[in-house]
Amino acid sequence: MNRRSFLKQSCGACAAMSLGALLGSSLLESCGSTGLGVLKASQTDGKVSIPLTQFDGGHSFQLLRVSNYNYDIAVQKKDDGTYSAMLLMCTHARHPLTKAGSGYYCTLHGSKFAADGKVEKGPASKPMVHLPAIVAGDQLVVTL
Ligand code: FES
Repeated sequence: MNRRSFLKQSCGACAAMSLGALLGSSLLESCGSTGLGVLKASQTDGKVSIPLTQFDGGHSFQLLRVSNYNYDIAVQKKDDGTYSAMLLMCTHARHPLTKAGSGYYCTLHGSKFAADGKVEKGPASKPMVHLPAIVAGDQLVVTL
């Protein structure tokens, strides 16, 4: 292999790796750490409004990320048509929780929570914090 062909192949490999890194990082950002879509919102007077249309088409679960707020919120439309909002904060030592299967997992000390927030495995002993979530017109209003 001469110098010219070596440079050609090296530049092609670098360009391919850079493109791969770019695509990979943008995909991770759009999917969030859970592999689910993340709904971004801002708060007004300690409340966040979500259009109810976000839950159309079988999208009964939304991961809500509020700007300038420490934890994500799991918002779920239940089978009976009501909504729940749970803070993704571990009740053991306030570490952020990760969605894992139908429940939630704490990567700090290993606590596990069920989909309804009940403790499945300690060291956490208290259930996840539920936030008030009420329907107002065509919006779901979550109080932080
Ligand atoms: S902070 Fe979650 S298990 Fe300790």
